Amino acid sequence: MNTIISATGLSKIYTRGAEQIKAVNNVDLEIQSGEFVAFMGASGSGKTTLIHLLGCLDTPSTGTLTIAGKEVFAAEKSLSEKKLTKVRAELFGYIFQKFYLIPTLTVKENIMLPFAFYKKPGLHQDAVTMARRLGLEHRLNHLPKEISGGEMQRVAIARALINKPRILLADEPTGNLDTKRSDEITEILHDLNRGEKLTIILVTHNPLLASHASRKLELRDGQLISE
Ligand SMILES: Nc1ncnc2c1ncn2[C@@H]1O[C@H](COP(=O)(O)OP(=O)(O)O)[C@@H](O)[C@H]1O
Ligand SMILES: [Mg+2]
Repeated sequence: MNTIISATGLSKIYTRGAEQIKAVNNVDLEIQSGEFVAFMGASGSGKTTLIHLLGCLDTPSTGTLTIAGKEVFAAEKSLSEKKLTKVRAELFGYIFQKFYLIPTLTVKENIMLPFAFYKKPGLHQDAVTMARRLGLEHRLNHLPKEISGGEMQRVAIARALINKPRILLADEPTGNLDTKRSDEITEILHDLNRGEKLTIILVTHNPLLASHASRKLELRDGQLISE
């Protein structure tokens, strides 16, 4: 097996006035390439904070974090912002509960967004291919307001995959969808993991989505309590 994420003693402490909130408290975790890990737990248990740390979207307070062999955080220090940007762009795709599509851009332009700041040969063709894979080929020139919620989340998935990430990170990806659309997104994520061995790390309350995970981990008060 091939470890893609390794964390030890990972913590994130917020200070609110005199109060200290240990949003993530001393988490040890190893994730293998190709795994599908689902984090579960009550609201406020630290799920979002933890996956933001694992995805290099937020900086830990203490601990160590190694991603694809790169030490991202250790000895109270992060990689430089420039190197972190590279890790995010090359290794990760991100999906959120709110789709965060840009309302003034078309579906195709939204899918190409991760490459807004540098040119990539073949990008337009890649966007069309990705749209086709997600059943969006007839929506390429539509604006987000002209498509359904399920289609919006599929656009967000296409955008998350356009850089060919090794790890897909998702925070409650079906949280804003009805059952039918949730089941579609669940099927897409399941296929990506099974078919392409994409590593998936997500937070979900959706039992069907969680049932496809190779590992379910529960958080309580910032701590991992079970495997
Ligand atoms: N930016 C922040 N500042 C202060 N406290 C925060 C911040 N973000 C999250 N928290 C707190 O950290 C804890 C974990 O939050 P979160 O990771 O969002 O949990 P979950 O995603 O499981 O609902 C909560 O007590 C929350 O209020
Ligand atoms: Mg959350």
